[in-house]
Amino acid sequence: MFIELLERAKTTPGIADATAMTLATTGADGRPSARIVLLKGADADGLVFYTNTLSRKGREIAAHDDVALLFWWPPLESQVRFEGRAVPVSDADADAYFATRPRISQLGAWASAQSEPLASREELERRFAALEKQYEGKSVPRPPHWSGYRVAPLSVEFWWNRPGRLHDRELYTRAAPGAPWTKSLLNP
Ligand SMILES: Cc1cc2nc3c(=O)[nH]c(=O)nc-3n(C[C@H](O)[C@H](O)[C@H](O)COP(=O)(O)O)c2cc1C
Repeated sequence: MFIELLERAKTTPGIADATAMTLATTGADGRPSARIVLLKGADADGLVFYTNTLSRKGREIAAHDDVALLFWWPPLESQVRFEGRAVPVSDADADAYFATRPRISQLGAWASAQSEPLASREELERRFAALEKQYEGKSVPRPPHWSGYRVAPLSVEFWWNRPGRLHDRELYTRAAPGAPWTKSLLNP
């Protein structure tokens, strides 16, 4: 059901990027944080995104792997909420996806110590220029700190706009990945 909706969102005019989703994580202090990441794979095993594993989100997931993902597609008048555990993808999957990225993004993955303080824009550009030289004429390997996570949802909620704020909310839950889904309705 989600995959069909995602495919519809991808071809619906007015949706700039249907794969943009909010990822919420929890810090060691219990405080939530959220940011947008791009969905790079969705199938029966879960939803995949890629990032720097030493970033704030990466560090938070390492300590606490429960996450939430959220899509809002205004022209479809729908919201989809996921909750589940983020599990690192295999090195082979990460290598395969990294190899498809534009060279500039591959070098950027090396240049950016994502989420760490940066003294100046120039510092980042200097690092990038040095990497361009270092890898001139060579392919860029995947940095060890750049990989992906697969979120196998334990709950999925579809929200559909309806008149009078009497929206439809369908909640699907399961006890574990692979277990059968239970459907229920929620008050709007
Ligand atoms: C449209 C959009 C797409 C993005 N996609 C990604 C992504 O796929 N992976 C990623 O690491 N950051 C992505 N970002 C940047 C993140 O929102 C965030 O700034 C960065 O990952 C650092 O987050 P953190 O400090 O919470 O770890 C995207 C930002 C935007 C606005």
